[in-house]
Amino acid sequence: MQQLTVNLDDRSYPIHIGSGLLGQIELLAPHIAGRQVCIVTDDTVAPLYLARLCQTLADYRVLPVVLPTGEAFKNWSTLQQIFDALLEARHDRRTTLIALGGGVIGDMTGFAAACYQRGVDFIQIPTTLLSQVDSSVGGKTGINHPAGKNMIGAFYQPKAVLIDTDSLRTLPDREISAGLAEIIKYGLIRDRQFLAWLEQRMPALRALEPSLVTEAIARSCAIKAEVVAADEREGGVRAILNLGHTFGHAIEAHQGYGNWLHGEAVGTGMVMALELSHRLGWLTEAEHQRCVALIAAAGLPVAPPHGMLAEDFRRLMAVDKKVLDGQLRLVLLKQLGEAVVTADFDGQALNSVLAVTGQ
Ligand code: NAD
Ligand code: GLY
Repeated sequence: MQQLTVNLDDRSYPIHIGSGLLGQIELLAPHIAGRQVCIVTDDTVAPLYLARLCQTLADYRVLPVVLPTGEAFKNWSTLQQIFDALLEARHDRRTTLIALGGGVIGDMTGFAAACYQRGVDFIQIPTTLLSQVDSSVGGKTGINHPAGKNMIGAFYQPKAVLIDTDSLRTLPDREISAGLAEIIKYGLIRDRQFLAWLEQRMPALRALEPSLVTEAIARSCAIKAEVVAADEREGGVRAILNLGHTFGHAIEAHQGYGNWLHGEAVGTGMVMALELSHRLGWLTEAEHQRCVALIAAAGLPVAPPHGMLAEDFRRLMAVDKKVLDGQLRLVLLKQLGEAVVTADFDGQALNSVLAVTGQ
């Protein structure tokens, strides 16, 4: 088992990574203050892992809340189901919420924990590759609004993150690829050695070779923990974690939440950010093509959805959370392994990137 720490003073917390962690009460118990626990999951994950987790928590009064599966349900009315269940079961301020599922469940459970009785503890048990390398770490929680992705939410850190790599065995290939998008992101923004490591091992990673997957998760979480510790509330450097997300969020909103997976949209969004970085002269053609090839090798789409027009991107990107005073800011690469957040780019170069869309 590997353990990392997200260093946030008195709100610091561990990330445990390994096989069989779902059965290890000693990793959970130190983070559960009372006797009441509410496990929030979805109706895909529940038949796979809920009974096992309930068994591990046999000494607690466990309230399971099973939500409908999918990004399309990351909204107010689904969130309300968590509050309804907590109130009906009379959960008090010492309750602990446990998110058992992918990023949708993690983001919603964290937001519910931030709001319920003005804040209760929560633990992340991410079960998708994407949630294990990204969404379970760093305390961004929330829901979607029809006008924009993740527009309603709170920064609220978990007490612990438990990454049981065994849960990846039931994950569809398409979801593995989606997780790989965020893993590639860390190499692009922060660590070109990791990028080369990924290039050499992509087929084995897609096949879930255990030691490689654990290493990739640990490296990703280490980079994320370092960035979050430096800038918890995204006043500055944390925004680099959103490489490709401005384009990607626009794709998700345009296609209808859930039709393109978040990781797929991020994969294509990164291709667009790489192309813009190349057009600005920051990446060579060879570097640009090398990165696009890696994203394709991960099984991700590398072109925007058919029929999505440049004006669709412009309209949807205008509600991105990185827009400040009406000015669009993008995460771009100055070089491989070094990202910048900037509004200072040639508008013509962006026009050229968007012009190839919608064909
Ligand atoms: P998801 O939560 O929708 O899960 C993907 C699918 O896999 C779902 O159908 C789910 O039921 C299923 N599933 C989950 N675990 C499984 C398992 N072990 N075996 C079989 N099926 C399983 O999607 P995701 O990719 O995990 O997360 C995407 C969400 O995360 C988006 O809403 C995105 O905005 C959010 N996100 C948040 C952050 C953050 O920092 N908070 C970062 C990145 C992404
Ligand atoms: N996924 C972006 C962040 O956590 O900041």
